[in-house]
Amino acid sequence: LRAQSPVTRDPQSGMWMVFGYDDVQRTLSDWKAFSSQRGRPRGEDAQNALSASLISTDPPRHRQLRSLVEQAFTPRQVRALEPRIAELVDDLLSAVQGTGRMDFIRDFAYPLPVIVIAEILGIPASDRGDFKRWSDAVVTGDPSGSREMGAYFARLIEQRRAEPGDDLISGLIAAQLDGEHLDTQELLGFCILLLVAGNETTTNLLANTLLCWQDAPDAYDRVRADRALLPGTIEEALRFRSPVQSMFRVAAQDVDLGGQLIPEGSPVLAWIGAANRDPAQFPDADTFDPARTPNRHLAFGNGIHFCLGAPLARLEASVALGAVLDRLPNLRVADTPLEPIPSQIVYGVKSLPVT
Ligand code: HEM
Repeated sequence: LRAQSPVTRDPQSGMWMVFGYDDVQRTLSDWKAFSSQRGRPRGEDAQNALSASLISTDPPRHRQLRSLVEQAFTPRQVRALEPRIAELVDDLLSAVQGTGRMDFIRDFAYPLPVIVIAEILGIPASDRGDFKRWSDAVVTGDPSGSREMGAYFARLIEQRRAEPGDDLISGLIAAQLDGEHLDTQELLGFCILLLVAGNETTTNLLANTLLCWQDAPDAYDRVRADRALLPGTIEEALRFRSPVQSMFRVAAQDVDLGGQLIPEGSPVLAWIGAANRDPAQFPDADTFDPARTPNRHLAFGNGIHFCLGAPLARLEASVALGAVLDRLPNLRVADTPLEPIPSQIVYGVKSLPVT
């Protein structure tokens, strides 16, 4: 499809599909032509709160909202989290080491990012149990789980209004834009966006890296022998098995893209996963090469919506996978059938037994 119809309208869904690197990059970054905001409803549950969050807004609102959270996610702020992440990684690995059984996702790749973001937000440890169910519900569009999550955060926000702490939620409650505080719906949007955007994506990056190593055992051997290859390995896993495969936009005007005229108001899906395998941008695109330079993948998006959590995701991946290489140097994906996550957006497997 990328080679034959790089920009094409799917007759069933009416959605415009964009596959080539340059066109995907433009769709993600040209916000005047491709809106993140149009057609998003506002309402009560978590799904709708996401519609009010920065990922679903255009400038000038987007810049204002982003400026409020940017400070918490600068590379410097994120680096300060490294000792705590290392401690969590250590605890999670210690809990399974020597048991002879491990589901890499259930026991490691899932809990790690949830705990990290929950601690940043200031969510009590006792409340974390329900998060997997809720964030799955938001991703799959299941209304009851989304409602529960929305109600939970609404309660937490009220509690922090009454008793502020030094967590991000309290910081956002105190923040002002043009002299006004964020309303509850906007605060909810931030909480849910950070939880949903930051969890399953990072989980899948960790698990997908293992799958890349399974496909390319020589790359696995090389990084085991030379840890300096780990950052390149993570970037290549982001490119090769991109945790976010596609992003949605709406054409804000008639747009000429890849020789096609996309009419104003059309829904558009930018296929990051396809762009990241575009041979016009990546020589030997279907080869996993941890030493690939340059590696300008679009796994974290491009332009004003570029992933806010990229430094955090990279740090978590580097600490987590570094510890896996140190402590479980003979880790292998078990020889069992793997079940893909049923989603057009998220790319990964549901569970990953390892030996
Ligand atoms: C935005 C991917 C981890 C928070 C994005 C976008 C992508 C992405 C593709 C662009 C969306 C668009 O253009 O519409 C990923 C991947 C991750 C990851 C692959 C892990 C490997 C995280 C983490 C956090 C996070 C850990 C939070 C702490 C966000 C936020 C946005 C975003 C808040 C919206 C930014 C904006 O609209 O300005 N992410 N993400 N992400 N991501 Fe991530």
